Amino acid sequence: MRNCMTTSLSIGILLGLFVAREVRCAVVTRNVTYFDDQTELRGYLAYDDSWDESAPAVVIIQDWDGITLYEQQRAEMIVGLGYVAFCADIYEVDSGTDYYSLYLEYTGNATKYLRRMNLGIQEAKSFSFVDSTMVAAIGYCFGGTGVINLATAGVDLRAVVSFHGGLTRRAEYTEGTAIPAVVSIHSGGSDDSASDIQQLQDNLTAGNASWEVTRYGGVLHAFTMQLARLAI
Ligand SMILES: *[C@@H]1O[C@H](CO)[C@@H](O)[C@H](O)[C@H]1NC(C)=O
Ligand SMILES: *[C@@H]1O[C@H](CO)[C@@H](O)[C@H](O)[C@H]1NC(C)=O
Ligand SMILES: *[C@@H]1O[C@H](CO)[C@@H](O)[C@H](O)[C@H]1NC(C)=O
Ligand SMILES: *[C@@H]1O[C@H](CO)[C@@H](O)[C@H](O)[C@H]1NC(C)=O
Repeated sequence: MRNCMTTSLSIGILLGLFVAREVRCAVVTRNVTYFDDQTELRGYLAYDDSWDESAPAVVIIQDWDGITLYEQQRAEMIVGLGYVAFCADIYEVDSGTDYYSLYLEYTGNATKYLRRMNLGIQEAKSFSFVDSTMVAAIGYCFGGTGVINLATAGVDLRAVVSFHGGLTRRAEYTEGTAIPAVVSIHSGGSDDSASDIQQLQDNLTAGNASWEVTRYGGVLHAFTMQLARLAI
């Protein structure tokens, strides 16, 4: 048993969509092995095994340096809000620690990146204690770009929330693609490029998405990262 954590994480839009549940707090966390064909992936699952009915789930797409304590802590915080949380593995087990090259590899190939995100979403939906009709995705930085790609690719999710996503390396939007996810974007005003945001808003509007963009003046990643004062 653990105490549930509360969070200042800005996923209010999810709370608006999903019914809040009483949280009794028996948080279970574990690694989950799943596969992309023969390639082994290792996600991180957090849920509350005292819940007696299936719960909505939030899939977390990792930051540029893989699934770290940061994503794991976010997962546990999200359980405290009444969701199952699953950190999808994008880079795969034994992919090494040259994270910058991996980041470039995946942001440079939207097909490859979307495939790994979708596999993570499928894995999250497969758990018996997840309500597979109530799944959202969130992501930070690299993952923030990723969840925007999920939305503009028309992936069937309830919502995506992007925190300081890199807007310059996102996937191209194909005209005519409907965007079912509610899209909430949170971005540092000193971090992003305003013209990219305008294009993104145009794409979201073209896909008939329900969307919002919130920008925070004078900050980079400061509104979610503990190492906020570093220029990252
Ligand atoms: C989970 O995976 C991480 C590496 O991703 C490893 O360091 C850790 O020991 C694993 N935990 C368990 C309980 O297997
Ligand atoms: C992108 O990745 C896929 C594998 O998911 C691969 O088949 C394709 O050739 C890659 N495209 C480029 C341009 O490297
Ligand atoms: C957006 O909505 C309009 C009006 O209902 C419709 O004509 C159009 O096909 C929709 N676009 C997409 C991409 O679904
Ligand atoms: C989508 O955004 C791209 C830039 O990423 C832009 O070139 C394109 O015109 C936009 N398409 C639509 C339909 O809004």
